[in-house]
Amino acid sequence: MPRKLFITTALPYANAPFHIGHMMEYIQADIWVRFQRMQGHEVHFVCADDAHGAPIMIAAEKAGQTPQEFVAAIAAGRKQYLDGFHIGFDNWHSTDGPENHQLAQEIYRALRKEGLIAERTIEQFFDPLKAMFLPDRYILGECPNCGAADQYGDNCDNCGAVYSPTDLKNPRSALSGAVPVRKTSVHYFFSLSSPRCIEFLQRWTASPGRLQPEVLNKIREWFATDDAGHVSLADWDISRDAPYFGIRIPDTEDKYFYVWLDAPVGYLASLKNYLGANYEAFMADPAVEQIHFIGKDISYFHTLFWPAMLHFSGRKTPDKVYVHGFITLGGDKMSKSRGTGLSPLRYLEVGLNAEWLRYYIAAKLNAKVEDIEFNPEDFIARVNSDLIGKYINIASRAAGFLAKRFGGKLSSDLGVEGRALLDGLRAAGPAISELYEEREFGKALREAMLLADRVNEYVDRHKPWDLAKQAGLDAALHDVCSVCIEAFRVLTVYLKPVLPALSTRVETFLGIAPLEWHDASRALGAHGIGAYQHLMQRVDPAQVEALLAAPAQAAPAPGGEALAPEIKIEDFAKVDLRIARIVKAEQVEGSDKLLRLTLDVGEGQQRNVFSGIKSAYQPEQLVGKLTVMVANLAPRKMKFGLSEGMVLAAGHADDKAHPGLYVLEPWPGAAPGMRVR
Ligand code: 2FM
Ligand code: ZN
Repeated sequence: MPRKLFITTALPYANAPFHIGHMMEYIQADIWVRFQRMQGHEVHFVCADDAHGAPIMIAAEKAGQTPQEFVAAIAAGRKQYLDGFHIGFDNWHSTDGPENHQLAQEIYRALRKEGLIAERTIEQFFDPLKAMFLPDRYILGECPNCGAADQYGDNCDNCGAVYSPTDLKNPRSALSGAVPVRKTSVHYFFSLSSPRCIEFLQRWTASPGRLQPEVLNKIREWFATDDAGHVSLADWDISRDAPYFGIRIPDTEDKYFYVWLDAPVGYLASLKNYLGANYEAFMADPAVEQIHFIGKDISYFHTLFWPAMLHFSGRKTPDKVYVHGFITLGGDKMSKSRGTGLSPLRYLEVGLNAEWLRYYIAAKLNAKVEDIEFNPEDFIARVNSDLIGKYINIASRAAGFLAKRFGGKLSSDLGVEGRALLDGLRAAGPAISELYEEREFGKALREAMLLADRVNEYVDRHKPWDLAKQAGLDAALHDVCSVCIEAFRVLTVYLKPVLPALSTRVETFLGIAPLEWHDASRALGAHGIGAYQHLMQRVDPAQVEALLAAPAQAAPAPGGEALAPEIKIEDFAKVDLRIARIVKAEQVEGSDKLLRLTLDVGEGQQRNVFSGIKSAYQPEQLVGKLTVMVANLAPRKMKFGLSEGMVLAAGHADDKAHPGLYVLEPWPGAAPGMRVR
């Protein structure tokens, strides 16, 4: 029976681009999701921006934007990270979407009907200079539980305690530095202290297999037990006064849900946004498993508040909450607002392969709540000696002989030893599958690499390079190489959740359909494979150095624009620049920026290019001139027609303050079609 899985990762605050901590969580969840999909299960994997809250409101104000504009700009930057690291979310939504407004209000109304919402007048810190109640994150002081300095007003980074800001010792306003004053207002509370809630949460958290043992231990600390053995939890303040960027509390004028109330509701909102009319039926299906991947710092919200909200509003509660630790670099945590370290975009920019990081992170991950360390030497070693040295090499050693000597056809015999080797590889499938299921990715990869070792030992025993030199040993050579390719295919199944893009290249090379998990257990037989294409490079230590070096402070160019990151000659070579003659230049009706150029690039047919140079040239100035164009740019459909390339022009970075555009023109002698290199 295929499982029905609803999987989420924590919703990132929409106030900053992703850092490596986010990417680690997405990679962990994505591997698990891909593994489940390979099993044939139905998986819905969603996330969203966590858009609300005071910090975002304040940051937007500083940027001179509305909060909506501010979060939209952050959201627009998400794709390059997710695509870049092959994270296969089915949907990315926002907690400010209409679904979330509706669902959060519905849940609140249901809790109120259950008698679990209390109204209380409380005293809060008010910034007398800013004339507003101070959001938790804008009050700093000492943790009332462990005494750690410079802790925020809602919870402690050091001991994980959650408390009220007025409990902080020696508080100060982070907005103005003022010593805050106390002021009263009406707040709404979720009555977590009610015996019903406590009874439910004790039962829910203790349900076997739902939570990791370390998480359960933490929760036991959070349930305060008095001398008489009575367990208690504090009520949860779920409202904030205007001004606030959030969801209005029903039947109030100026009260909003605290961001942490509507944030997890965003899981449901994103799913609803994705499933549309099928959402209700899907969530009503008791077979659906709801699973949240989160970091250890937000366990409290996900193992107490969230299940209680869901349960008492008559909804399904999470089946599992999978908690992970942080990723550190040289011992520093890189996953929260205070640390940065290893920039995911820079990682891609310096030419490091996303799947190397996926592999490395997977190799270090287990099912525990442990921090993992990014160690540069270890990273290079694992990728180069394991991934390339053990796995990729199996294919590269065998493919050449198969292509040259046997027309790419695999042997169907394979020999006694080869068949036994492959049987062993196949027999490991269920154990590796179990490890993936348990999120023991490090162990799963270790198993796969042990299998790769066996294959390499087999190759070393049979020495195809020697067989190839001796007459009459063609059949043996054919068998050995075929065993290698078949072993490589089986190993690819086991690595595919971690290395999706590489697996696609392998599938193309082998001429096979996308690999499913069960493909490991069946034989490929006499099959013709394609020509070997280079599958994966080794890490060049210089790339890792470039990643970790402080980003070069590029000297400002005359235009005031910093230099783009350094590229290799190979990168430049990808851009095919050609001399073009401007045959025709015309105005474009309805556009105040573009001219339509007809270009001769020496191809025997002309190209149509729209160029944003109208402000700088009259069409007649351009006709007959030579210029330089990017000739291998993917054609772009524009409102006015298809643009088949791009003409090069120089200009200032700040084109408002320094208008002026200068189309490039080659020296005399250049002719249409010549390549610029
Ligand atoms: O800690 C955070 O980054 C939160 N934005 C996580 C929210 S998870 C879910 F509840 F939305
Ligand atoms: Zn503390």
